[in-house]
Amino acid sequence: MPRELSLAEIFQLGYYWETKILLTAVKLDLFSLLAEKQLAALELAQRIHADERALGLLLNALVAMRVLTKEADRFSNTDVARTHLVKASPQYVGHLLLLHDAEWNNWGKLEETIRTGRSPVKRHLFETDPELGANVLSVLHRIGQQSGPALAKRLELGGAKTLLDLGGGAGTNAIAFCQVYPELVATVFDLPQTLKTAERTVKEAGLEGRITLFPGDFNRDPLGGLYDVALMSDILHYQDSNANAALVKKTFVHLNAGGRLVVKDRFLDESGASPAWTTAFAVHILVNTERGCCYSVADAQGWMAEAGFRSVVELEQTAVIQGIKP
Ligand SMILES: C[S@@+](CC[C@H](N)C(=O)[O-])C[C@H]1O[C@@H](n2cnc3c(N)ncnc32)[C@H](O)[C@@H]1O
Repeated sequence: MPRELSLAEIFQLGYYWETKILLTAVKLDLFSLLAEKQLAALELAQRIHADERALGLLLNALVAMRVLTKEADRFSNTDVARTHLVKASPQYVGHLLLLHDAEWNNWGKLEETIRTGRSPVKRHLFETDPELGANVLSVLHRIGQQSGPALAKRLELGGAKTLLDLGGGAGTNAIAFCQVYPELVATVFDLPQTLKTAERTVKEAGLEGRITLFPGDFNRDPLGGLYDVALMSDILHYQDSNANAALVKKTFVHLNAGGRLVVKDRFLDESGASPAWTTAFAVHILVNTERGCCYSVADAQGWMAEAGFRSVVELEQTAVIQGIKP
């Protein structure tokens, strides 16, 4: 049994002040202004046309939060802020935080969403704001570059020649898989506006000869093929259950006999209350997508079995499920 929360921890959970202070600082791009210099509140206020007193209070809070440091009246970045919150840094992650800031108003409607069951948004980010979507994918790509090769190895795809990466985003997985398996060629299928990011990353990886970019809507358009492996990584939680069942069926048709479908997502276990991070992610998806949902492992296994896949197994608990086409 986990230990019970203290009253102090309950208050801590309820105080979102620091969250919004950080997100606002990223939105104002204060960290880039402080890139390599120390500035006083007045100098920063002049550069962003802000109120000196108000900005000073925000900066002091950022110091207390250990994101900035302060010497006399001058502020500077901590190492972590310099590495990850300065726009020019190759390890900038601010776009992901800007996404959370952009979703702030949706979260403000959580009570209404819980009462009505209806999300305040139409469709989802990649359809409604491709520019922000592309920026977010760039950050996810940087993070995913670390986990992609390990996933590719764990799947033991030796012998597979063709991969379809559905909703492949920045091409992160297709690139990692091609790097791990020299025999493999991949197709990254995604919305046309998103593929611009993949075009850049595939070029950077020098894999233009082995990775094809296939623009389209996977719910409406043909998927090409046949393929030995199809991957659905972090796409199913944007859609409703009927669309997912249909997409899994459609993918089945585009696989060779003996081919496999690998689904990687944030699934809930049978209790619905675990893993902890995913339970909060489920509420995020409820509020920030029109039809999305965090599904259970059993839901995904059901779509696969119904489509005709056999040997459907949970390769990684609440994360990776695989089915084989007989
Ligand atoms: C969270 S990203 C996942 C990207 C990648 N699979 C990964 O794991 O890093 C979701 C992707 O699904 C794509 N997507 C969403 N709906 C789509 C649709 N109807 N057709 C094609 N791609 C879609 C988005 O453009 C986006 O690239």
